[in-house]
Amino acid sequence: MRMGKKFYIETLGCAMNVRDSEHMIAELTTKEGYEQTENLKEADLILINTCSVREKPVNKLFSEIGLFNKRRKEGAKIGVCGCTASHLGEEIIKRAPFVDFVLGARNVSKITEVLHTPKAVEVDIDYDESRYAFGEFRTSPYKAYVNISIGCDKQCTFCIVPHTRGDEVSIPAELIVQEARKAAQSGAREIFLLGQNVNNYGRRFSGEHPKMNFTGLLRAVSEIEEVERVRFTSPHPLHMDDEFLKEFAENPKICKSMHMPLQSGSTQILKAMKRGYTKEWFLDRAVKLREMVPDVSISTDIIVAFPGESEEDFEETMDVMERVRFEQIFSFKYSPRPLTPAQDYEHQISDEVGSMRLKRLQERHNAMLDEMKSERVGKICDVYFEELRPGGMIAGRSDNNMLISVPGSEELLGKTVKVRITEAGRTSHRGEVVA
Ligand code: 5AD
Ligand code: SF4
Repeated sequence: MRMGKKFYIETLGCAMNVRDSEHMIAELTTKEGYEQTENLKEADLILINTCSVREKPVNKLFSEIGLFNKRRKEGAKIGVCGCTASHLGEEIIKRAPFVDFVLGARNVSKITEVLHTPKAVEVDIDYDESRYAFGEFRTSPYKAYVNISIGCDKQCTFCIVPHTRGDEVSIPAELIVQEARKAAQSGAREIFLLGQNVNNYGRRFSGEHPKMNFTGLLRAVSEIEEVERVRFTSPHPLHMDDEFLKEFAENPKICKSMHMPLQSGSTQILKAMKRGYTKEWFLDRAVKLREMVPDVSISTDIIVAFPGESEEDFEETMDVMERVRFEQIFSFKYSPRPLTPAQDYEHQISDEVGSMRLKRLQERHNAMLDEMKSERVGKICDVYFEELRPGGMIAGRSDNNMLISVPGSEELLGKTVKVRITEAGRTSHRGEVVA
């Protein structure tokens, strides 16, 4: 019997990339008869879905595909996809001539085409995929990622994404609702809406479309009966108006965890970043959110050592952290990116200073997390179980996004159950099911 063709895929970067990979997997399995493998050596096709948001993962790409080239079975193809593919285009094939094709982050639907076109480079960032009906594939049967927009219209001066994913186009609401309904009916009770700037939803559609903003979309998705939970990422602090916060607070299906990417606590640096809000606006929104939703958990992204960041500017970031007490922080040292204005700014900060600031920020935040631990023990929360863990444990997330594991087995998978936290850690906790 002839064995089917197999592909191996590695995904770097954000949740959008995870969903793009799912889309490619769907196209390959439903239209090309491929099967996924975890074993690189038996793959007929090797894909890497890349991220270019910082320099490190880009450097890693070339060593990684070098290894793929050494280990691949004879005749296996190698494709480089995603944001670095968009950004470097054919340069990838120049630097690594063994690469068979390059597929940009906004060209995912062309995966079956490039597969059959030697040395294809498809990286058009104006390409419109907002109405493309991808085949179906989901990594988790319990949670469904659903894209709500592609691209990003913001011009944050540090960010390469507008150059890798192009201008923002919203996906028609009826397609989003249809996809969410289908996923929920087949068991994915949690819908995770994805976009670079979700609360800017509805500014531009690729054709005629009735008016709809993000708040309206949240309502429409949560009206689907089978949907139990709605999450989303990433919202922009600038667009967190009162109407949006009210919907977030009052809609029982919306999970009470909010990502509020601060980037910097200094109004002057925020201005240089072209973020569009001030320190005061950010604090005002965060305070209001905590008032309206006492159980909310707030996560954030912070960049330290942006060009021109003085000690005082950095202290402003530390100050916002003290005041908001974020439950989770993703923190990064500024990384100059090609095609972005900030790479040419004066007063670039040394790596040493950047590392020191990052360390200070992370150490202080860890101390805060340690303080939060004692407040958590004894709390009872609703946990939606998604994953079996070794040692007879099962893990899931609380409504406000705490990762909690309890002793338990398959029968809890896909169910939402009340759990008491018995032991709290910094990023994950242990609990017991409340009878
Ligand atoms: N340097 C460091 N961090 C960056 N991010 C985006 N661009 C850069 C950069 N040039 C961070 C931001 C963003 C997150 C996804 O990555 O904090 O919110
Ligand atoms: Fe995601 Fe941005 Fe990385 Fe692209 S560059 S994968 S959009 S984080």
